[in-house]
Amino acid sequence: AVERTLSIVKPDAVGKNVIGEIFSRFERAGLKIVATKMMHLSKEKAEGFYAEHKERPFFGALVSFMTSGPVVVSVLEGENAVIRHREILGATDPKKAAAGTIRADYAVSVDENATHGSDSTTSAEREINYFFSKEEVCPRTR
Ligand code: CMP
Repeated sequence: AVERTLSIVKPDAVGKNVIGEIFSRFERAGLKIVATKMMHLSKEKAEGFYAEHKERPFFGALVSFMTSGPVVVSVLEGENAVIRHREILGATDPKKAAAGTIRADYAVSVDENATHGSDSTTSAEREINYFFSKEEVCPRTR
């Protein structure tokens, strides 16, 4: 089925100047960018996005990293977009990420892991609505 997923280029990857390289990988895989924006997350915005991890020991470090510089937040659309996007990103821990994946190529640690991708269609819907209004998502007509 055609799905949508939320993709974030995190501050470490923005700092490495590989936004376009990462977008190219999505496009080469047939995923379409239907919304995108650069933003510098506030502490409140980052905490709200990662609310499900609030009790985890890494929560403070995660929020401080995600607010350390600008991010690029996008909505990708395509057949099985949630899984396909996660395959392109590779495992959360770059040490476990398959060769040729974005995290294998650009991430240095589980904390600074270059990208985020929704883990299910349910979280994708929540995450897309967290960052984008309906009008900001642009369905492709060609
Ligand atoms: P992300 O997909 O953005 O969702 C939560 C993030 O927490 C995750 O990527 C990692 O960057 C970060 N994180 C740090 N430590 C861990 C951990 N032990 N397990 C899972 N995620 C972690």
